[in-house]
Amino acid sequence: MMADPAPEFTSLTARRSKAPHFRPTEVEPVVGKDILELLSSAMYVDPRTVYREYIQNAADSIDDAFGAGVLADSTLGRVDVWLDTEARNVRIRDNGTGLRVVDAERILTSFGASPKREKEARGFRGVGRLSALGYAQVVSFRTKAAGEKKVTEVRWDCRRLKSALLDPSYHGDLRQLVRDVVTVLVEDHEDQSLHFFEVALEKVVRIRNDLLLNVEEISRYLSEVAPAPFRPDFPFAPAILEQIRLHVPVCRFEMFINDSTEPVRRPHAEQFALSKAKSDSATAFELIELSDGEGGLRAIGWLLHHSYLGAIHAATELRGLRARAGNIQIGTWEIFAEVFPEVRFNSWTIGEIHVLDRRIIPNARRDSFEQNAAFSSLLAQLVPIARDITRRCRNSSARRNRIGAIEAREARVLAALELLAQRGVSKARANRTRRDVGATLGEMKKLAASSVLAETDRARFSRKISTLQTRYHGLKATDLLVDPLESMPKTQRSAYRDVFDLIYDCSASKTVAKALVDRITDRLAGQLGRTKQRRARGKKKRAKNNSAS
Ligand SMILES: Nc1ncnc2c1ncn2[C@@H]1O[C@H](COP(=O)(O)OP(=O)(O)OP(=O)(O)O)[C@@H](O)[C@H]1O
Ligand SMILES: [Mg+2]
Repeated sequence: MMADPAPEFTSLTARRSKAPHFRPTEVEPVVGKDILELLSSAMYVDPRTVYREYIQNAADSIDDAFGAGVLADSTLGRVDVWLDTEARNVRIRDNGTGLRVVDAERILTSFGASPKREKEARGFRGVGRLSALGYAQVVSFRTKAAGEKKVTEVRWDCRRLKSALLDPSYHGDLRQLVRDVVTVLVEDHEDQSLHFFEVALEKVVRIRNDLLLNVEEISRYLSEVAPAPFRPDFPFAPAILEQIRLHVPVCRFEMFINDSTEPVRRPHAEQFALSKAKSDSATAFELIELSDGEGGLRAIGWLLHHSYLGAIHAATELRGLRARAGNIQIGTWEIFAEVFPEVRFNSWTIGEIHVLDRRIIPNARRDSFEQNAAFSSLLAQLVPIARDITRRCRNSSARRNRIGAIEAREARVLAALELLAQRGVSKARANRTRRDVGATLGEMKKLAASSVLAETDRARFSRKISTLQTRYHGLKATDLLVDPLESMPKTQRSAYRDVFDLIYDCSASKTVAKALVDRITDRLAGQLGRTKQRRARGKKKRAKNNSAS
């Protein structure tokens, strides 16, 4: 029998059955000042993302400039990044559309009301430009649109902003706070055709080893994250671009750091480091096309295959299966690590996935995507790809282990053959060694036939084994060899052989033992030679004396 429903439950259902009518709230919502902290630096874990946000805006604006004919199709847009470590300032300037004087102030003091929402742009939340507010004393935006003679500058006083946020007696809301910390200046400008947008961070804060003003770090970060062309010496670039260019926005600008003559480029190269001493090279690229199940593409990407010798060095900026949206990296190299059967194999991987499905949306921090059905489907589609990479990693490990095992045996056979050729040791030891060589060669043959080896490995080892076998059979014909102890009396010879056996037994390695035995036999050969000569001279002298008498 079912128990009676709890009294609370009965009364709730009774109230519901009266179909309550909710009216829209009539109060003016209060947007407190603290929301600004949440939208600016508090939102970002890695301060370098400040650069990513401004480059993203520049890329959107340059795309717009091409779309509107402000930039001619035959040209390239330009983004300049200047880091002034002395003055502690950063400037990021693009020659995109810029903002018109009627729009600039409103747009640059709005929150979450992005004019890009309905467009094909990378940004859409309307907050990215606030990312530097916690990292400098002043953040200013200067901009000018083509066809106008006015420059607008919107300055955020971040020091005042910070103290207002910290001050418990400051009771202004978000609107008031913006009025208190933002100032605007509109100036005349001669050049009507000029169009630009410039962000300036003044007196940048010193955090994490002054990361924001570290030219090398920022260059590396941008080459990894920003849209940029491949290096001209990256041999797979033409083939990759050929495959993806229909779907992925081509990079229509060049970016220069501190007036460098060389633009920022993606970090991919044929050769890359695994560790300080070890490197590997890319051998092939594989195209990845992931369907959205509705006749379109959810994502397109590529993998760079190599020898899968181990984890790729972090400093290469290459490792990991990475994600890009609008050709800007989302998250870090670990974004898809979870799709690998063992996460460590993500660090053996080089590849990127350009997300094309608009239902897969970068989250506010752009450190991943919003968790929704489309993103889950993408992850599921990446699983077999990660599995295949894992198989390659494991095969490569197994192959290297097999090669190691064969080479260890090869070294053992070579040492044994040397020992036999030395002919210093006792017969018993020589026989044991011979048997060992025979057995080890047998093991080598078995290992070399393994299917984990490549065809070329198998051929290489089979040649090596037959050379060793020829040497081994040659040594069996002992009469071809000269015994270094041959001219010794038999008893003495056998005593020496016992000593040599002992040396082999007691030495740390066969090589050390052999070197010692070689030295002893050389010395003995010298002594035996001199004794022989002395004896010959004595014999001659005696013969001479005899003939004289
Ligand atoms: N470099 C730029 N050139 C022209 N307009 C810009 C530039 N940077 C920002 N803007 C204008 O300022 C607006 C707000 O920029 P912000 O980065 O805060 O938001 P968003 O790019 O629209 O979206 P998201 O928060 O996703 O980045 C942009 O939508 C754009 O209209
Ligand atoms: Mg933006």
